[in-house]
Formats: sequence, C-alpha cells, structure tokens
Amino acid sequence: MINIAIDGPAGAGKSTVAKAVAKKLNFIYLDTGAMYRAVAYSAIKNGIAITDEQAISEFVKTITMDIAYDENGEQQIFVFDENVTPYIRQNEISKAASDVSAYPAVRYRMVELQRIEAGKNNVVLDGRDIGTFVLPNAEYKFFMTASPEVRAKRRYDELLARGQSVDYDKVLNDIITRDYNDSHRAVAPLKQAEDAVYLDTSNMTVEEVTNFIIDRIKL
Ligand code: DC
Repeated sequence: MINIAIDGPAGAGKSTVAKAVAKKLNFIYLDTGAMYRAVAYSAIKNGIAITDEQAISEFVKTITMDIAYDENGEQQIFVFDENVTPYIRQNEISKAASDVSAYPAVRYRMVELQRIEAGKNNVVLDGRDIGTFVLPNAEYKFFMTASPEVRAKRRYDELLARGQSVDYDKVLNDIITRDYNDSHRAVAPLKQAEDAVYLDTSNMTVEEVTNFIIDRIKL
C-alpha cells in the first residue's frame, strides 16, 4: 500500500489539498482530525467533562468508531453507529478535540485505527503526527503550514460559509492556542518529520499546493 502523510497545524489547508490529491490519484482520504473531533463530540454528548482524562480514557476504550464514504466520496464517521459527521466542525469542538488528543489512551486507540486503514488501502492521511508517529515509513511525507493570520482567515471564511457566526480575532486566538496545545503535548506532538517536504502555503492557491504534491508522487 502507498501512504501519503500530510501533517501541519490547523488551517494550513491540509484537508482540502489531501482530498484533491486523493481524488486525482484515486486513493482513499483519511481525515484523522475528524476522528479526534468525533471522540470529543461523543464524550460531551455522553456528559463526560473534556478535562476528565480518566473518564475520557475509559470512554475511548468502549467506543466503536467506523469510517465510511458517502456517494460523493466524503468521509463519514460513526460512533456507536451514529453518524457524528455533521456535528464535529463546530468551533468549540476544535478545542475539545485538541484537548482529548493529548490523552495517551485516546491517541493510542485512534492511531491503531489509522494504521489499520493505512494497511488496507492506498491512503492520503492528514493530521499532526502521521509522518512522525502513525506511519513513520510512509512513502511520501509533507509538512504543510502557513502564517497564523492566513490560517485564521481561512478558518474564518470556512465557518462563515457554513453559516456560523464568528469573530476573526477569536478564530486567530483559537488557532494560536491550538498550535501551542498540539505542539507541546507529551505524546506524538505536532512536528515536522525529518524526511517530510516542507511547504508554506501562505501565498499558494489550493491548485498550486495540490500540483506541488502530485508532481512529487511517482506511482
Ligand atoms: O485537523 P483538525 O483541526 O480537524 O484536528 C482537530 C484536533 O485533533 C487538532 O487540534 C489536534 C488533533 N489531532 C491530532 O492530535 N492528531 C492528528 N493526527 C489529527 C488531529
């Protein structure tokens, strides 16, 4: 199987590009951030406090998580057979996902599922630790970033397009907090793999970034 790892901070454009790359190559796209979001959302729904590491760690051991793709190829995540996909993009879930992702028990369970998916298919995965921890032997690795201001503007536009009312300064602050959280946790923090290709997308279009990656993939 061929695996393409695309890591980087929130709002760098990973998911849009990973989706486009997967489509062009006819690979599966695995959005690993959505998995942490699904855990956070389900925990909240079950009345578990995000700060309660022990309860979240117990909870994550019991959940069933299934990943499927709809007729448009969009990833759908099911927790306990409920499709949670429509609920995991809310702004408050972003921070909660970052918080639960720091708990080792959560990471180990999600990483296990990610490795299973990557072993079965040609997959483009986007996340924070794919190239460093989940799939250190991935055939292709990219580390994609952009300035915090550019990333905040992208997130802001994305949330607006979804009809959510948002404040740019709050989005920027959330991004900075999440960058800090994600890169300072003890287990598998956000970090560029030594053998990853670095890409600053601040002044690049989605098409340019997609082509940059496609040009480097030899099948
Ligand atoms: O990519 P995203 O914004 O949907 O990710 C949500 C959170 O999940 C992110 O802040 C950190 C965590 N995450 C992670 O720890 N490891 C991954 N491979 C993907 C996401």
